Amino acid sequence: MAKVTERLGGALAFGGDYNPEQWPESVWPEDVSLMQEAGVNLVSVGIFSWALLEPAPGQYDFGWLDRILDLLHAGGIAVDLANASATPPPWLSHRHPESMLVDVDGVTRNYGGRQAFCPSSAAYRDAAAALTTAIVDRYAAHPAVVMWHVHNEYGNHNWSCYCQVSAEAFRKWLQRRYSTLDELNSAWGTTFWSQHYYDWAEVLPPRTPAYQTFANPTQQLDFSRFSSDELLDCYRAEAQIVRDRSGLPVTTNFMQFWKPMDYWRWSQEMDLISNDHYRFAALGPDGATHDLAMAADLVRSLADDAPWLLMEHSTSAVNWQPRNPAKAPGQMRRDSLSHVARGADGALFFQWRASRAGAEKYHSAMLPHAGTDSRRWREVCDLGADIAALADVAGSRTRSRIAIAFDWHSWWGVELDSHPSVDVDQMERVRRWHRLLWQNGYTCDFVHPDRDLSRYQVVLVPALYLCTDDAAANLASFAENGGTVVVGYFSGIVDVDDHIRLGGYPGAFTDLLGIRTEEFSPMLAGDVVPLTVSPDLDYGPPESGEGDPPVGSTWSELIGRVEPDVEVLVSFAGGQWAGEPAVTRRVLAAGRGSVPGSAWYVGTELGTDLLAGLLVKACAAAGVQPVLDMESWPAGFDAVVREDEHTSYLFAFNHGSEAVPLVCEGTDLLTGKPWDTGTSLPPGQVAVVATPLVAAP
Ligand code: GAL
Repeated sequence: MAKVTERLGGALAFGGDYNPEQWPESVWPEDVSLMQEAGVNLVSVGIFSWALLEPAPGQYDFGWLDRILDLLHAGGIAVDLANASATPPPWLSHRHPESMLVDVDGVTRNYGGRQAFCPSSAAYRDAAAALTTAIVDRYAAHPAVVMWHVHNEYGNHNWSCYCQVSAEAFRKWLQRRYSTLDELNSAWGTTFWSQHYYDWAEVLPPRTPAYQTFANPTQQLDFSRFSSDELLDCYRAEAQIVRDRSGLPVTTNFMQFWKPMDYWRWSQEMDLISNDHYRFAALGPDGATHDLAMAADLVRSLADDAPWLLMEHSTSAVNWQPRNPAKAPGQMRRDSLSHVARGADGALFFQWRASRAGAEKYHSAMLPHAGTDSRRWREVCDLGADIAALADVAGSRTRSRIAIAFDWHSWWGVELDSHPSVDVDQMERVRRWHRLLWQNGYTCDFVHPDRDLSRYQVVLVPALYLCTDDAAANLASFAENGGTVVVGYFSGIVDVDDHIRLGGYPGAFTDLLGIRTEEFSPMLAGDVVPLTVSPDLDYGPPESGEGDPPVGSTWSELIGRVEPDVEVLVSFAGGQWAGEPAVTRRVLAAGRGSVPGSAWYVGTELGTDLLAGLLVKACAAAGVQPVLDMESWPAGFDAVVREDEHTSYLFAFNHGSEAVPLVCEGTDLLTGKPWDTGTSLPPGQVAVVATPLVAAP
């Protein structure tokens, strides 16, 4: 991102997708002057313009793109230029029907929407490569262009294809993974249900729809891996063409927790990480605000803590949910700046000017249908001024001592069919644990469980059903070296091939946790089981007679063996496992810096107060505190710190309805005024308080 920031004169990026091809050229000069008025300094151009740029195979029409890039440059607006491969033109799909996507039922998904191509199609890949070459050759030296936007939201609509071409590509992928059929047979467990393969040609994508029978689970898991890799290959090929011709940074926009794409792998291939985030109305206002924070925390982690770019969000309503509420006054500002707080060095929108035609004409934009005499436009201009005032923040980092271990392969594995309970959902549990930390003022990263954990003091493992040997060893060594690990139920159950780890659950973690579960018993929807909480847990509200009674739901299990050095913090007080442990903690020998590590296990779905109390307790015991020292974290209050060598930037958001006094001193960059400690942040408001860091003596 630093290279882009430099081209923007050190400013944070502000702008959005700009689709000038949807408008007569006579509108363009007004676009540029209104962009200047709003403080726009970066726009993404050409994302869906393949059909106009290449009207017939190999015939390019770059005239309009030349003119708009020149105009933008003259107006001082930089461009994130797309290679336009996101949606092939109808002529390509029409000439190459084999390039279209086929779903699990064998139905061809025709063109007329977007991304209707098979990721393995040679016709698509060749044409995308030729187009990319032509665009980059023409514009690599254009002074407006500061970065490249390859494709758009890979796999949003075509995350997997079941056609013959894909079947062939899947076999090749499998041959690279398992050099022999014997290895494949063993990994897929094909002795079960007479599935043994004798010839590679017999191997297919999992075309068995779930309503017929259960497809082989490892075949399904491998198909998810293949499908993510296949689109990553498309990205790699196009990015390589760009890199061969231009030194500018290359990205493609992610969709945070998008199940089909393993973004840990994808992130390795980006020059800068960018992301799109939209509020989901169904989550409710607080849930959607939390979702934003969680998404941004993931993206920062994918960027390995480096600044990233918010490529898209919305100024107000979207068009693709069943009901699309507008953002209330102040909501857009809080949303945009929340991304910045969590490491974004820019906030861009979809899109600049609201469309008149097409599927997204009811999607909000920076310039609404109503024009400039509108509240939305005024809020956009105010936000542009806020973003400009935050230039000093560029390059600083948001740091966390807590991380949630997260793995896409585990996600694919845990949500396969024929499991103990349909209620065991990876994202639900990750979301819940992250939200409780967020509501209590802790900043939290995400981390791949195989990667270096040494920057953390606490690693939470709410849901890691599939756990590789490396990940198990990594987490154990983290705890042995003084780290705190908290593991949620139905984690560490299977290995990389989705084979059960034998000898008692959770096989990957039995040694670390000092427990051994014999049997699971998921609970029926709505059922709860009473729990007895040990006074040692000392978790807060119920002691004062407030809060939820301690109950478990969703899941229970028989932890038949507990090592002598393991404390039982919570036990089942009813149900079939009455008297047996439900939550345990083992304190390990003192590790790094003489802090003893600890390994906690949570064997049922705890109520909110108890789970929050437990997580806060685990953090406190590890020496990790909330961002601000407050007696209790106010409802709807969010605070995050970005830091560089010289300055700490406290971003404080009051999404709630009561004023919140802030204990910090410095200058509020948004107003330019001093912030005295104890000054209250009014409801709906944001402050970014810059405080010089005093060098250690
Ligand atoms: C994104 C996409 C944009 C636009 C936007 C609408 O998924 O990248 O092109 O469709 O959604 O919210």
